Amino acid sequence: MTAEPTTRPAPTLARAKQLEMYHRALKTLPGGTNSNFRAWGDDTVYVDRGKGGRVWDLDGNEYIDLRMGYGPVILGHGDDRVDDFVNERMRQGVSFSLTSEDEVVAMELVKEMNPWLGKVRMTVSGTEATMHAMRVARGYTGKTKIVKFEGQYHGVHDYALVSVAPNNMAELGDEDNPVALAWGRGIPEEISKTIVPARYNNIEFLRKLFERQADEIAAIIVEPVLGNAQGILPQPGFHKAIRALTEEFGILLIFDEVKTGFRFARGGAAEYFGITPDLVTYAKAMGNGYPAAAFGGREEVMSVLPDKVSHGGTYAGNRIAAAAARKTLSILRDTDAIETIHATGRKLQAGIKEKLDAKGLAFHFTGAPCMFGIMFTDKVATEYRDWANTDHELYDAVAVGMHARGAMPEPDSREPWFVCEAHSQGDIVDRTIEIFGESLDYALEVRAHHQAMPHQDKATWGASPSTD
Ligand SMILES: Cc1ncc(COP(=O)(O)O)c(C=O)c1O
Repeated sequence: MTAEPTTRPAPTLARAKQLEMYHRALKTLPGGTNSNFRAWGDDTVYVDRGKGGRVWDLDGNEYIDLRMGYGPVILGHGDDRVDDFVNERMRQGVSFSLTSEDEVVAMELVKEMNPWLGKVRMTVSGTEATMHAMRVARGYTGKTKIVKFEGQYHGVHDYALVSVAPNNMAELGDEDNPVALAWGRGIPEEISKTIVPARYNNIEFLRKLFERQADEIAAIIVEPVLGNAQGILPQPGFHKAIRALTEEFGILLIFDEVKTGFRFARGGAAEYFGITPDLVTYAKAMGNGYPAAAFGGREEVMSVLPDKVSHGGTYAGNRIAAAAARKTLSILRDTDAIETIHATGRKLQAGIKEKLDAKGLAFHFTGAPCMFGIMFTDKVATEYRDWANTDHELYDAVAVGMHARGAMPEPDSREPWFVCEAHSQGDIVDRTIEIFGESLDYALEVRAHHQAMPHQDKATWGASPSTD
């Protein structure tokens, strides 16, 4: 007979109010939430408030927040510097469908921090930003097809929901001949056929594809790190090779910096990896959680706006988003917030490494310290398909165990941890490492006793990718 685990089990979270809210919300919102990716069945979290690096749910449970709203909250929840400025500006009125100085200043800041940019326009979400960047690319080149890497997430419009996050890699098709896999129903086949899947970190694949189809391909859209699988990094020289190939074949390079922008560096992943794309998209970190987003590009490419390509939006550049971007970007430009975030991430990684080394577990960190994941495998993952070969059951069990102990990473091993400036405060780093260690001990012990490891309900349509 196997003995019971001896490690202290996870405390049970109070869930009564949230369960009640879940059943109430289910009557009105599909899945009880406003996004498929937040629908975690009986475990769905209903939030009360957040401050700094912490968040509280409706039942009063307190967590160190490692999701940070899937990345946007770069400074911390309820940052007084940003909130006071937004509050002051919003009293002047929020929506005019006219242009305010806040919008101009916000986009000047985007350009100042990304000096290669010619022109930039605001949108409300990352989804809109990638949709418009793709349209500009098509409008500028007169070509239709867009190449994207398997496993990369570019939002919820029809052109983006192709080969994103299947649990079963076989659905992506043959490695040499991947299929354009639409995510869910309702996406016309004619549209998914305009998106050509390629394989991240596989430059030979891309060359062959360009050789075959360059005359049809307007652009390749690239998440500089594969954020939908914890932030798989480009192999040395990969981005430079893509840049060279796109120039050789007359194809535009779109960097989707919705996750990496103003986080990896002031100039995003473009600066971090030393690449100048043709078009770029930003969202998340530029507004510290307010719905600010943008797309932009080289002067010549963006010159199709305003006369030749459609772009608009009642809320594009609305006061709240523009003021939030103006203040957040000034803080990121003028303070060492980004350096603090990287340093905090490094401390977290050092502590986690100690815990994992003590167990002799094979693992590696993905991403960069500002946004990183932990993959349990001895082979470094280079593309989305590799995620399937990691011990993600162990990761999920640790993540769920962390919730019960007071820290909240996404309960799906595809999502990285997002570090914010406020995580550097108080005992957040030490406590997170402690909670990680305890959750790891417990998950390993449960496994050693051949019991089912804790896990959480996933989004109803399969995976829970890096989105919101
Ligand atoms: C790389 C990337 N692009 C686009 C998006 C879509 O942004 P939004 O959720 O603001 O529509 C996301 C969201 O997670 C993202 O991670």
